[in-house]
Amino acid sequence: MCGITGYIGARQAAPILLEGLSKLEYRGYDSAGLALLNGSEMDVRKKKGRVSVLAQEVKKHFFDSHLGISHTRWATHGAVTDANAHPHVSSCGNFAMVHNGVIENYENIKSFLLTKGYTFRSQTDSEALVNLIAYHYYKLPENSENRFLESVRRALLHLEGTYGIAVICRMQPDEIIAARKGSPLIIGIGDSERMVSSDVLGFSGRARSVIYLDDGQIAKVTADSCEVVSANNELVPYVTNSVDWELDSAELGSFSTYMEKEIFEQPKVIENAIRGRISDDASTAVLNGLNMTPSEMRQIDRILFCACGTAWHACLVAENLIEKYTRIPVEVEYASEFRYRNAPLDKNTLAFVISQSGETIDTLEALRESRRKGFKTLAITNSVGSTIARESDGGLYQHAGREIGVASTKAFTSQITICILIALYIGRMRDLSFAQGKEIVGALKALPSAVEETLKLAPELKKLAGKYCKYHDFLFLGRLDEFPIALEGALKLKEISYIHAEGYPAAEMKHGPIALVSPECPTLIFANSGDIFNKVISNAQEIKARKGPLIIVTDSPDRFPEGLADDVVVIPKVHESVRPVVSTIPIQLLAYYIAQQLGCDVDKPRNLAKSVTVE
Ligand code: AGP
Ligand code: GLU
Repeated sequence: MCGITGYIGARQAAPILLEGLSKLEYRGYDSAGLALLNGSEMDVRKKKGRVSVLAQEVKKHFFDSHLGISHTRWATHGAVTDANAHPHVSSCGNFAMVHNGVIENYENIKSFLLTKGYTFRSQTDSEALVNLIAYHYYKLPENSENRFLESVRRALLHLEGTYGIAVICRMQPDEIIAARKGSPLIIGIGDSERMVSSDVLGFSGRARSVIYLDDGQIAKVTADSCEVVSANNELVPYVTNSVDWELDSAELGSFSTYMEKEIFEQPKVIENAIRGRISDDASTAVLNGLNMTPSEMRQIDRILFCACGTAWHACLVAENLIEKYTRIPVEVEYASEFRYRNAPLDKNTLAFVISQSGETIDTLEALRESRRKGFKTLAITNSVGSTIARESDGGLYQHAGREIGVASTKAFTSQITICILIALYIGRMRDLSFAQGKEIVGALKALPSAVEETLKLAPELKKLAGKYCKYHDFLFLGRLDEFPIALEGALKLKEISYIHAEGYPAAEMKHGPIALVSPECPTLIFANSGDIFNKVISNAQEIKARKGPLIIVTDSPDRFPEGLADDVVVIPKVHESVRPVVSTIPIQLLAYYIAQQLGCDVDKPRNLAKSVTVE
């Protein structure tokens, strides 16, 4: 979860690197830096703070250069300081490197290098690697072929952990060495210029085509060539891919923040998720991307979902939907837990991972663990060509357009929509009747306008935000289909406004958490029509009885006593299968407007990054 760019070609490198970095800041923004080469002369600028701070620094004096690397950091080892910012330079001064990932054995490497006379200026793990590269370079005979590439390859053999790196060397001022393991790295091919980036956005539209490096691969990139070798130094044939430029969807337009734009894009995003995936004739979904025949699907007797954060909440929604409509048991696991838990799963398990970025290392490793166990593993992701997309056995793209806001909004409702399609698809292969399927198909088709309708609550939620932004604690309660949405509401609020918030199944409150209820701790509770409506209202009464400020989000405002809630948010009544999507809108808006009221940076909240590519 940092952003890396590299450039080599006929143009000035600095402005291209800075433009690319600015498009990658959603990946981390603690500090930023760049290193430029002009012949054997190297210029390194790096500063704590945003890319704009670095740009000011670069402007102070011009350095003519056509080759460079740059980095925007999300710190894992070492405080956020200028010294810990990347690029890191070897103590001999001849190598500069940017790194995305975590080097788990950096202390051992550092101790070894200290005995060899190397010195360190930072507290980071990354600096150990750039000095290790230098060490191997000087150990190689001066006339050895591909000495720079070989020194990186040998250094990486000693590494435990994850990396996406770009390295430059004063003795080799016409090439960039790039490598990856666990962190994304892509090579962009332009007209007599090449680029390196963590994400296609970093190419700022300049790449005609791209090469997705795979784990363990190392590339030597020059202005007009690219050579890829494996960890054991075998030449790797690579394929170039065209680029699915969605740059326009990465522009802000008339909105004040990406998060606001992405919240209001959701009707279109849901249309995109559904497009081409509904069969009216058979009242079912059409999901060829799952690469499974109906008879293969019928063999499945357990389904596993793995993800992190908001995507994990989407898995919980999927669990309710798929169990309800297919009667197949569903397990939901935090990806970070699953990969080490050695979960007992039987042979007819189908695994799904959900990941907006397609690069979350915990989810990627859960995918790999599931495949290692021999399970067919499918991915639901928003990122075409991402590592998770490329390593899965199939899956479904969200087509939600770039999600830049660090707090996930449109990706979440898009994921839920796709999970509804999956539940419909598998359900109709089992006991879901044509009529039941038809109901869900109708609800899906009407969903974009139901979300459009719910977004009209924005002014009301903005007003509520003014009233509730002063609190320091918040509870979000829901039951069954709305419990995951309660969790998502709590996550949205805390990650962009820094207000402590917790989500619970409403009935769970009386088993301890109700001790938190007081006039200083508001509660938002979902009370939507359904079998347990009255039970939820009783839970709301328990909050009220303890003088907790109470917001009720409901599609049935006339079914509970006047004055029970301090504030009522009425959402449209929709089919139960799609109600989690509609229920999500108010909690996104409430979190957004509270964070705005508090002057928080909703697109780049403190301590966070959009894609967590470190463990
Ligand atoms: C979402 O608001 C969070 N920023 C975070 O929890 C995110 O959902 C999580 O890191 C998973 O990301 P992914 O979907 O890209 O894998
Ligand atoms: N581990 C490195 C550091 O803390 C890189 C972090 C990142 O991926 O941004 O500087």
